[in-house]
Amino acid sequence: MGKKISTENETASSSASTRVKNKVCILTGAASGIGRATAILFAREGAVLVISDVDEKGLKETVSLIKEGKERVTAVKCDVTKPTDVKKMIDEVVAKHSKIDVLIVNAGVVRVGPIETFPDEDYDLLINVNMKGTHYTCKYAIPYFKKQKSGSIITLTSVAAHIGQPNHANYCSTKAGVLGYTRALALDMAPYNVRVNSVSPGSTDTPMLQGDCMIEAKQRGVPYDVVKKEREKEGVIPHWADPTEIATCILFLATDDASYMTGSDLRVDGGWTAR
Ligand SMILES: NC(=O)c1ccc[n+]([C@@H]2O[C@H](COP(=O)([O-])OP(=O)(O)OC[C@H]3O[C@@H](n4cnc5c(N)ncnc54)[C@H](O)[C@@H]3O)[C@@H](O)[C@H]2O)c1
Repeated sequence: MGKKISTENETASSSASTRVKNKVCILTGAASGIGRATAILFAREGAVLVISDVDEKGLKETVSLIKEGKERVTAVKCDVTKPTDVKKMIDEVVAKHSKIDVLIVNAGVVRVGPIETFPDEDYDLLINVNMKGTHYTCKYAIPYFKKQKSGSIITLTSVAAHIGQPNHANYCSTKAGVLGYTRALALDMAPYNVRVNSVSPGSTDTPMLQGDCMIEAKQRGVPYDVVKKEREKEGVIPHWADPTEIATCILFLATDDASYMTGSDLRVDGGWTAR
């Protein structure tokens, strides 16, 4: 599977800036946070990039923040909970570029709260975006991956798939679901030379985590900064990740540098789960 690396010298000579150059990459959830940082990084690295999100305004902001490689970036509105949206986006990418090299399944939502009062619509949203959205995004790309017999799929799970967090039972279950999905899909795709891996971020400074902490602060009646300080102590690196620190790990999995990795999960959690 992947590219055979024959000598150490060859590895050293492949410049970091060419690893996804001209690779056709599709990214969901690119209007904010980790997706936005990933879009900026992949564009800079020379990818032919299709970024998507349900939030058109945020997607436009992401495009405006891309300084290098903007000419190779296409932004598409796509709601991952809608199979027709996802299929259309993927079919159009292949119609235009004839292939997909990298699929980054990043779109996600968090909803928190005690189970006994957890709104059914929040539960449905978690399942629809985090689990069904992951499934639809892979489902419509897989026939192309199987045909071309190459590629890399990267899903976004979470530290929450590995440990429990108070009031996060439903979010944790969807992210554990994505972890299992990724592992199993890696087996199915191995005969087709397609690697499938996940990234499990720890606390990453994005609107998702900020919103999560604001809800907790409100529920406990304490200032946001108190919750933030407590949450920063969860990792052994005592601050939240910058979204770019997750994007660089997604980039690694997308490249031949990770050619022997499939069915793996990269925990980028500041040592949280090492405790
Ligand atoms: N921030 C963290 O601390 C953290 C930790 C672990 C895992 N993650 C995971 O990383 C991923 C990115 O999270 P983030 O922190 O950047 O969140 P974010 O809220 O900043 O960005 C998520 C993006 O997904 C998009 N999205 C939501 N529903 C969608 C839908 N139906 N269709 C298409 N796009 C949709 C949003 O519009 C948003 O742009 C998520 O899967 C999240 O679960 C985040």
